[in-house]
Amino acid sequence: MKNEKWNELSPETVARLQAEFLEWYHREKRNLPWRATSDPYAIWISEIMLQQTRVETVIGYYYRFMELFPTIHDLAAADEQKLLKVWEGLGYYSRARNLKIAAQQIVDEYHGEMPKTIEEIRKLKGIGPYTAGAIASIAFGLPEPAIDGNVMRVVSRLFEIDEDIAKASSRKTFDEAMRKIISHEEPGEFNQALMDLGSRICTPTSPECAECPLQDFCLAYKDGRQEDFPVKTKKLKPKDVYYVATALENSKGEYLLQQRPASGLLASMWTFPLMEVSETEYQRLLKEWQKKTDEQLSLFVAEESELPEFFDQKVVWQKRHLGEITHIFSHLKWHVLLFYGRTEQKELEENQRFASVNAFNEYVFPKPQQKLVEQLKKNHLSDKDF
Ligand code: ADE
Ligand code: SF4
Repeated sequence: MKNEKWNELSPETVARLQAEFLEWYHREKRNLPWRATSDPYAIWISEIMLQQTRVETVIGYYYRFMELFPTIHDLAAADEQKLLKVWEGLGYYSRARNLKIAAQQIVDEYHGEMPKTIEEIRKLKGIGPYTAGAIASIAFGLPEPAIDGNVMRVVSRLFEIDEDIAKASSRKTFDEAMRKIISHEEPGEFNQALMDLGSRICTPTSPECAECPLQDFCLAYKDGRQEDFPVKTKKLKPKDVYYVATALENSKGEYLLQQRPASGLLASMWTFPLMEVSETEYQRLLKEWQKKTDEQLSLFVAEESELPEFFDQKVVWQKRHLGEITHIFSHLKWHVLLFYGRTEQKELEENQRFASVNAFNEYVFPKPQQKLVEQLKKNHLSDKDF
């Protein structure tokens, strides 16, 4: 039978839970920049940034974003590269693109003012049930739950809910439980209290129940079963993909950069030329180049057989590979081997540029490309002999 223990709470118990929890929040809450504003736009931006990113990381990005795009109108008119630049390093770049689309929606349909009902908020591009609930409760005082992984962890422990939180169908259960306990006077504070509790006290392992303002109400605590919740099926391992990246330098000391297509992963961002290779090819290249002695490598022109086929004649390969980086996107793990080469290429394709290392900051680089530049600086540019 379905567990609905929240229905056993008396109205008095609910009132006491809310009062004690909110009192704790007002005493202990973190001072975060988006908690010092009532501007729905600013709250929206913060919630989007916080979706997959830690609070400490978001703070700096939030300030820079709000300075650059202080209003919905500014965002709706934003230049795409400028927008991606301020998002650079935060990841999940479709969040930034969707923000702009939603801002345009708000300008077109609501005269540039954030809509105030949950149904309308929910219809904006990039806003799912969690974010709609967060904005509705924090910006407009509506008693809407904002259910993310943190909240599901806390609530599953409070009521010993054993539904799999990885399943979309479980959301309904958590929504029901939350509607039973959320404060109607201070819903935004109540939701944010849960977020703070989940990140600081009711943590995934070894929760600090001794410090917890909800201890009196927590069934898992009462039964000593805190670590049995939440129930969660294991995530699939990200799929491995293998690339060779090339830091190709021309006679002016500039490197070849290439812009990615306008759609797909890391759309419109810039990287060194990349080529996907098989795992076998990747391992073979790694081994062969690692085998060489320093002397062999110091002025090394690779033999054709040692190179992936796309390394064409225009390139003279002069040094060992510069390093290996990995980067995990939500469902993919990139493995990238970086090679250095000299190129005589003069003509550029439409999506290519030569840029000096000092000018790299004018381009939007995704995280793996930033790591590749670090490798280049560490293993090549610091090399005085070359
Ligand atoms: N995570 C998501 N939204 C948040 C908020 N408003 N405050 C703190 N952490 C959060
Ligand atoms: Fe989490 Fe422990 Fe508090 Fe229960 S008592 S909500 S398990 S920290």
